Order: sequence, then structure tokens, then C-alpha cells
Amino acid sequence: MIKKVIHYKEVGSTQDTAKRFVSQGEEAAIVAQRQKRGRGRQGRPWLSPPGGLYLSLILFPHMHMTSIPLLASLVIVKLLEEYGFVKLSILWPNDVFLEGKKVCGIICEQYKKAVICGIGLNINNEKVPKSLDQATSLNLVSGHRYDLDEILNSLIRIFNQLYGELQSEGIEIKEVLNYCAGLGETVELVTAKGIVRGIVHDIDEDWALILRDETGMLKKYYYGDVRRLVW
Ligand code: BTN
Repeated sequence: MIKKVIHYKEVGSTQDTAKRFVSQGEEAAIVAQRQKRGRGRQGRPWLSPPGGLYLSLILFPHMHMTSIPLLASLVIVKLLEEYGFVKLSILWPNDVFLEGKKVCGIICEQYKKAVICGIGLNINNEKVPKSLDQATSLNLVSGHRYDLDEILNSLIRIFNQLYGELQSEGIEIKEVLNYCAGLGETVELVTAKGIVRGIVHDIDEDWALILRDETGMLKKYYYGDVRRLVW
């Protein structure tokens, strides 16, 4: 349960700042108005100008650690629904799309006994670089400007609710499946062991990805980075 929120004007990466707080053993959120060296997955940079929400959640989950990235995606979808957005989808497990473009990226890293779950949500950004033409922001979709503190408070409220449910009675996968894109599509999954290609067959009750490989075999993956081959 996140009870403490620590704010910064600027940091290198909230993921790194969060590590300094892990020894305190308390679940908390580290938030920055901008990051100089925001990190994405697979060593990609995450551009972090003012106007976006950049936070890292320090978590000590009792169970379901592999579900944290997908849980965070579900939190973002529920948050954006509260703000009236539709056409939301999740690409298992870490990316949230709005009207087919990426609006939020999530990275989960294990550090000592903690999971540090970094969330970057494009909010008031009025443009995205040309090189990121598959990206969007809330402002680009709605034309409105948003109060970042209000969005942060809602995000933490929804996170605490769903994180509590996940660790007590559990959350049924069908809650998440409603939003999952990519079923039936050919994808590449980047794992710690390498890259595998397959067709997305299902996301099962463990919230794991079931891929059908070229030999027809079904294989289960708990974590990885999915790349769509066709948009
Ligand atoms: C991705 O889509 O590749 C993941 C992007 C994660 C970005 C967030 S912003 C807050 C936190 N701090 C970082 O340096 N990265 C994450």
C-alpha cells in the first residue's frame, strides 16, 4: 500500500532515486516533474519533459510479483477511463495505448527485496517527437490540460485498491483480458534469454502470456517485452 509520496522537481531517473529508499522497507512513490535520464525498457531512453507524470513505485509484494507490470497497466486503463477516455488497450504486459498510440510505458525492476515499478504517462505534452509517431498524450487526444497532482492522487488510489485486491482475493484475468490487444497476432517477445517469435494465443489465469511457436507448441511466459510485427 502506497502511503508516502516523495516529490522532486528534477532527477536523473526516478527508478534510480527510488533505490535509495528501498532500505527503509516502506512502500512509497517517487515522483519527478522531469527526468534528465528517464529510462525505458530494453535500454531505450524515456523522454521526460515537464507535463508528463514520471513516478516509480517501491513495492514489497507478498506474491504475484510477475503480475505487477500488468497490474500497473490495468491501473492506468482504469485511471484514464475515470477521465472519460475510451479506446484504451494494453499490450501485455507493460504498455498502454490510447486510440492505438502509446500513452504510457511501464518498467518493473527487481532491486534487493523490492520491485520498483516505473510509470511514465504522457499527459500535457503538446507534441511528441517525429521519431515517436506511435506515441500520444492525453492533451493530444482531448485538447485539454490536466492537473498532474490530481491525476497522481487518482493513480495512487486506484493502484492501492487493485494492489490490495491482487494480494488478497486476487483479480480475475477476465478483468484484464477485456483490454488486451494483440490476441491472435504474431509478435516477438524479448526475454532475458533471447527473442522468441510466436502467435499470441492467450493470457492465462496466472496473467502469463501463452505464445504458439512456429512448431505449434504453446509456451508460457511470465515476463518479457512484446513487439508487434504488424500495426
Ligand atoms: C517503456 O515503455 O519502455 C517504459 C518507460 C518507463 C518510463 C518511466 S518514467 C518514470 C520511471 N523512471 C524512469 O526512468 N523510467 C520510468
